[in-house]
Amino acid sequence: MIELAIDVGSGVTKLCSADRKTHFPSLSGQGPERGFDLEESKSKNTTVSFRVRRPTDIAGGKNRNEEVFFAVGEAAPNLVSPEKLAQTRSDDWYASDEYLALMFAAVAEGVAPQYRGKIRLCTGLPQALYGEHRDALTKRLIGTHCFKVNDIPYKITIRREDLFVMPQVMGLFLSRLAENRSLQKDRVAVLDVGTYTSDWTIVENLATVQWASGGMAVGVSNVVEDISKYLENVYRAQCSYVAVSNAIRYGEILIKERRVDLRDHIRQSVHDIAGPLVDAVYKQWRGAPDAHVIVGGGGARLFGPTVRTLIPHTTVIQDAEPIYSVVEGYYSYLTAVRRKPKAA
Ligand SMILES: Nc1ncnc2c1ncn2[C@@H]1O[C@H](COP(=O)(O)OP(=O)(O)OP(=O)(O)O)[C@@H](O)[C@H]1O
Ligand SMILES: [Mg+2]
Repeated sequence: MIELAIDVGSGVTKLCSADRKTHFPSLSGQGPERGFDLEESKSKNTTVSFRVRRPTDIAGGKNRNEEVFFAVGEAAPNLVSPEKLAQTRSDDWYASDEYLALMFAAVAEGVAPQYRGKIRLCTGLPQALYGEHRDALTKRLIGTHCFKVNDIPYKITIRREDLFVMPQVMGLFLSRLAENRSLQKDRVAVLDVGTYTSDWTIVENLATVQWASGGMAVGVSNVVEDISKYLENVYRAQCSYVAVSNAIRYGEILIKERRVDLRDHIRQSVHDIAGPLVDAVYKQWRGAPDAHVIVGGGGARLFGPTVRTLIPHTTVIQDAEPIYSVVEGYYSYLTAVRRKPKAA
């Protein structure tokens, strides 16, 4: 059976399967009633459609099922107006159709075109929303789903026993456990630095420790915002989120064919922004002197050095792309809990 690990983050949706890893921005918005002109909106754009149950306008009437079209990923801001794009920072986003559209777009990346059949799926929720949303998300994902991605139809079935929903930060722990089984016996403190939020916990005996778990609305986007303002004020340059995010990764940006070194400014910005986060984590963990401390997520490299100033025994994930650490952990879980086929 096809096994997919999907992490729909507030900024980036990540997929990991047996032979594929990919990601796209978590941008999703409802399109026009009759759908998009696919001729005009060519292949890089992703459009997703599925039937949504809508209450009828007529009092006492039955619910109607109607096909709804969504633009998702990189091209979404060109296809739908800004106010239609889902607000991924709101707590009820996980119950929205826009969220489901991102999930289906990621599924389509991991299966063959026109796939019809079962899948095993592992996904997650932020720590703060896990208790409240886990059951609702589970209920929503179990069953058979018919949808189209770029007009190609899919029909997937997810059975209860094939679905795993966990706190996202647990995925980060599992990605390390897959590399070092001995972590199972230790106390492991993990911090997942994401786009808009950061989550942390301590894992002991494969379970999260309640008093050591938390989250904060601080992430890479705060640094992107700060650097964007700096570029606008000093260079009169208006740059997109992606352009500034890349500039932060490489420490420089090209403005009017001139290379601008941003390293000092990024260092200062990260220090100011990550400071309160690191203080909160340190206090909650009381320094975690007896634990392995691991920082992962797309913001690991950026925030890692600041974490190390307060918690010097921190390991910053050195994977080629730490953005995949959570979803790789989900995937390793799927393979670890495979059920043995029944003997004939
Ligand atoms: N290889 C990469 N490609 C694109 N963005 C990257 C990459 N590596 C790091 N980033 C940056 O890291 C940020 C955080 O990525 P991550 O996927 O961990 O966040 P998220 O899961 O969407 O957020 P949250 O956990 O808050 O919901 C991205 O928004 C981006 O700015
Ligand atoms: Mg995340």
